[in-house]
Order: sequence, then C-alpha cells, then structure tokens
Amino acid sequence: MGAAKQIRVKVNDVDHDAVIDPRTSLADFLRGELGLTGTHVGCEHGVCGVCNVLVDGRSVRSCLMLAVQADGRDVRTVEGLADGEKLHPIQEAFMEEYGLQCGFCTPGFMMSICELLERNPDPSDEEIMEVIGGSICRCTGYDSILRSVRTAAAKLGGARA
Ligand code: FES
Ligand code: FES
Repeated sequence: MGAAKQIRVKVNDVDHDAVIDPRTSLADFLRGELGLTGTHVGCEHGVCGVCNVLVDGRSVRSCLMLAVQADGRDVRTVEGLADGEKLHPIQEAFMEEYGLQCGFCTPGFMMSICELLERNPDPSDEEIMEVIGGSICRCTGYDSILRSVRTAAAKLGGARA
C-alpha cells in the first residue's frame, strides 16, 4: 500500500471519513469500505457500465475513478434511490416494464438513467438509446429498458409515456 490518504466523501447524503490506499478505486471503496454492494463490478476497465454511480450529479464508471478523486465530492449510488421503503420511480418502472432479468447490470443502468432524467425530463428515444447504449446488458435486449426509461420519465413528470 502506498502512503495512506485521508478522504471525506459524501455518499447518499452521509459524510464518510476514511483512510485508504490511494490506489483504491471508487467502486472498491464503495463496496469494500462502505458495504454498498449495489454498485457492481464487471469488466473493471470502463466498458460494461455495471459500476456507474453519480459524482456531483454526473454518471461515472466507478471502476475507473480512484476513491481519492472523490474526496470532497457528492456520490450517489443505487442504494440512495429509494426513499426508505418507497422505491424510486426509476426502480418502479424497471419492475413494471421488466427492465431486468438477472439484474447484474441494473444498478449501473439506473444511475445513468437517473442522470439523464435529471438533466432532461422528457428525452427522445434516440437520447435514451444513447445513454443505455453506454452499458452492457446480456439479458434483456434493451427494449424493456427503453420502455422502463419512458415509464420512469412519465412517472417523474415528463410528457412521453
Ligand atoms: S466494471 Fe466498470 S465499466 Fe465495467
Ligand atoms: S439483466 Fe442480466 S445483464 Fe442485464
């Protein structure tokens, strides 16, 4: 381990102080240090998107970002979507539209979709495809994920259903 580094990161509205190996990825920090295992790890080189989280509102591949780069920043993971027992509209939409099968890719999709819908509440199908095409799903064929995003947008107040 290189010289340990102290960081403070806000994750899902809770501040966390930690002393970590500076080579620790954000994904490993979230999973290993904070126990937030909803963020998955697949390819570990920025291709599959299962590790997507939001940092200061922008979707990032947490396998490619070092935890020290998140020092002082605001991170949101899939665990932060639900409000207690109440699912987030994106989660409800994935359930209703069968936007998942094995579910391994789902947290990463949900976080990039969260960024999209916060930036653009009424995206076109092309805009949705551009975002969901950035992650790999081996199960669904993407149609149900596209429907899930449309439904989530409608639930959140966007116009298209
Ligand atoms: S695990 Fe990060 S992009 Fe695949
Ligand atoms: S639901 Fe299985 S990989 Fe996407």
